[in-house]
Amino acid sequence: MSSKTNILMTGVTGYIGGSVLARFLAHPDFPSFNITTLVRSPEKAEKLKALGVEAVVGSHSDEKLVEALAAKSDVVIAMADADNYEAATATLRGLKKRNAETGTTPIFIHTSGTGVLADNAKGDFHTETIYNDADPDQIESLPDTQLHRNVDLEIVRADKEGYLKSYIVLPSTIWGIATGVLVEKGIQNPHSLQVPLLIRASLDRGRGGMVGTGKNIWPNVNIEEVADLYIVLFNSICTNAPTGHGREGFYFGESGEHTMYEVGKAIAEALVALGRSDNPEPSTFTPEEINKYFEGSTYLGTNSRCRANRSRAIGWNPVKTKDDFIASIKAEVEALARK
Ligand SMILES: NC(=O)c1ccc[n+]([C@@H]2O[C@H](COP(=O)([O-])OP(=O)(O)OC[C@H]3O[C@@H](n4cnc5c(N)ncnc54)[C@H](OP(=O)(O)O)[C@@H]3O)[C@@H](O)[C@H]2O)c1
Repeated sequence: MSSKTNILMTGVTGYIGGSVLARFLAHPDFPSFNITTLVRSPEKAEKLKALGVEAVVGSHSDEKLVEALAAKSDVVIAMADADNYEAATATLRGLKKRNAETGTTPIFIHTSGTGVLADNAKGDFHTETIYNDADPDQIESLPDTQLHRNVDLEIVRADKEGYLKSYIVLPSTIWGIATGVLVEKGIQNPHSLQVPLLIRASLDRGRGGMVGTGKNIWPNVNIEEVADLYIVLFNSICTNAPTGHGREGFYFGESGEHTMYEVGKAIAEALVALGRSDNPEPSTFTPEEINKYFEGSTYLGTNSRCRANRSRAIGWNPVKTKDDFIASIKAEVEALARK
């Protein structure tokens, strides 16, 4: 019997997952890991195998496949889709089998997001409500209908049943263009979601923009430091250090806060510097633009405020600040403008 730790990872061709896998490839215990990845692209699967990991070609919508892969895993790290309920519950079924067959308690590290905290501010105000990941009662006060919550709750329920230990990582607005071996090999998407979405809309309309007056506040975190958080968490679990799980297993990824006006302003100024706009002030997206660029959603006008106290308590030590984030936007605008 292999004494290696079987680790299943999803989303490794993505922004978060690629950065996390790169960290595992460089982990001092890498020789004792059997890493299996689930990817959709056969070409990328071949490239991943060349890096020393298993790659199964398939979709996480294939519930039977996900269940079977999870049933062979000691650790599952899900980084593909915070909201895919079927993929998450198939993983739970697989891990339940693992527990029944081996008597061990597998680990499930799932990626959610601080979008779970979003309100309906439409850019018009900032909230004073700040969530603390070390306060499970406050997290449980979130309505079940919040974004990501249906999946997170199933996972916490499974932990309570006792057949696995669950850890939910909730990154905020992740920023920075990812680098590293998976980007170099053309495996990983190097761009984040939220700010690039705003940048693409702003490039199209020729001016920086915001929902409402952009008074709403979001937390931010650098992509390298997000990858650190997964590793710090994994190491903490593996060394049996005190590491909250289940209802006490929420880990925010946050190292600063910004208003969406500040982001719109940085994009507006970068567009002027590139000669793609003549106005360094962001303007309010019209209802037509909200439909065109954001599928009618005013999500970018919400507040999501939190403090990553539990993440810091296990040794995560992000040093990047709001200013670093705002300063990074120019390079992101330049990169996306070239595409
Ligand atoms: N970026 C952020 O700021 C942020 C912050 C908080 C939470 N999150 C959440 O974290 C998750 C990942 O975000 P990301 O920024 O890394 O996104 P991303 O770069 O778009 O990566 C998504 C990954 O999921 C994979 N995937 C999607 N559908 C799949 C399927 N049916 N079967 C197998 N793999 C599938 C993609 O594979 P392909 O390469 O085949 O497309 C890719 O590897 C999302 O749920 C996102 O909402 C992101």
